[in-house]
Amino acid sequence: MAILKVATLGNPVLRKQAEPLDDADIRSTDTQRLINDMHETLAEYNGVGLAAPQVHVPKQLCLVMIPRSPRERASETVLTLLNPEIVEASDEMEEDWEGCLSIPDLRGLVPRHSRIRVRAKDRTGRERIYEAEGYTARVMQHEMDHLRGIVFLERMTNFHSLTFREEFQRFWAESSEE
Ligand code: NI
Repeated sequence: MAILKVATLGNPVLRKQAEPLDDADIRSTDTQRLINDMHETLAEYNGVGLAAPQVHVPKQLCLVMIPRSPRERASETVLTLLNPEIVEASDEMEEDWEGCLSIPDLRGLVPRHSRIRVRAKDRTGRERIYEAEGYTARVMQHEMDHLRGIVFLERMTNFHSLTFREEFQRFWAESSEE
């Protein structure tokens, strides 16, 4: 296992449309090793999600952490999603804070669908359907955006809330439910 280097904003790999993986790709040693390394990288950086383009691999693979609550990471599980697609999304949207390992130290309020249904393959190649809401739905939408070359800044409706982490603690943390 290895901790991978995370690409930051400006690196063209973050702007590419990621390629889908076929079943042989998914089962290959290279992909299975990449998945293991991504899990280790996510844990190392204390992230809640990670997409393959963020570690310089433009393939449709991402990890999404499912904590019992955003504060309770001890009981987390981390989903591995391959070729994920949103098959249903609520009209209802909600706004909450996001950050990104590829955009270090910046945070902003981002509107996302409150509930989504996602079809994806797991790391064994089996097709699965996931229903997610709230925080988990948010992380899934953020990570799936990475697979299309989109970062959270583009999902913000305005930049009034865009803030450095330090200023977030000073001026915004009280208004956050995190
Ligand atoms: Ni991100």
